[in-house]
Amino acid sequence: MVWKYKDFLCIEGLTKEEIELIIETAISMKEILNRTIKKVPTLRGRTICTLFYEPSTRTRSSFELAAKYLSADTISISVSVSSVQKGESLLDTVKTLEAMGIDALIVRHNSSGVPYFLAKNLTCSVINAGDGMHEHPTQALLDVFTVFEKKKRLDNLKIAIIGDVMHSRVARSNIYAWKILGSEVKICGPSTLIPPGIEDLGVEINYDIDKVLEDADIIYILRLQLERQKKGLFPSLREYHFLFGITPERLKKAKPDVLVMHPGPMNRGVEISSEVADSIYSVINEQVRNGVVVRMALLYLLLGGGRIDETSYS
Ligand code: NCD
Repeated sequence: MVWKYKDFLCIEGLTKEEIELIIETAISMKEILNRTIKKVPTLRGRTICTLFYEPSTRTRSSFELAAKYLSADTISISVSVSSVQKGESLLDTVKTLEAMGIDALIVRHNSSGVPYFLAKNLTCSVINAGDGMHEHPTQALLDVFTVFEKKKRLDNLKIAIIGDVMHSRVARSNIYAWKILGSEVKICGPSTLIPPGIEDLGVEINYDIDKVLEDADIIYILRLQLERQKKGLFPSLREYHFLFGITPERLKKAKPDVLVMHPGPMNRGVEISSEVADSIYSVINEQVRNGVVVRMALLYLLLGGGRIDETSYS
């Protein structure tokens, strides 16, 4: 099976086989990341540009490292020092970059739908690195890959997504992914942070956090997205931590082989206590490492074509 799309915009609408293809490709990429010399010639001569209209540490550097490990050239446009500040339109900015010969544009934007608009207007590949409150598809891929490494399967798992689902593109991409793969998703959080109609995506809402934790194979904790919130959605950070924060006491009720995940950046002491973040249940650092791996897989599938030539990697 080969990847057949120019772009990678969302998890919604992918097939199980397409997700599995990315995960299988990522397995061979992990082997490259574990080498002392992490460089293969697969994307030599290709150029990848990151364009981020929102802050990012891990997603941006993860894409850039993934591209570099595959020998692609990378450029990174910081909106705060680009001509966007002089009033240039989004389309003019990206058309300018495309005219210079980039092969893929990785975009993060605070408005939902921007990657779709760009994909329609550009001949190069467009990858969504997070669009508003809509989707963050590569985050879901790295989460799925991390679970696969630990649990050796992707179906019939119970995933509990806890916290600020309302503002979370990560939650939406994860919900789509886990439903496509045949696992069960429960969401839990303050009712003011659970978006109306989310049940239509096939998830169960349960406000009893202890019950949700007890059943879960995976506890997926979301950051409280204070920058996206209007005031008044819950009384205080202390109260949030008291009611929904994942603490060692709460974790005692969970299964012994439960995995604790968080997309980062974490607010320690708010949605997750430091003890839990650094506990043996936590796979948060593995998620970060696997972010590079799935992004290598995706860049390879989108730009590399053909099959991986075993001999060129040794
Ligand atoms: C997420 C994002 O930006 O959507 N972070 C990330 O990319 N790992 C989640 C968040 O900001 O809480």
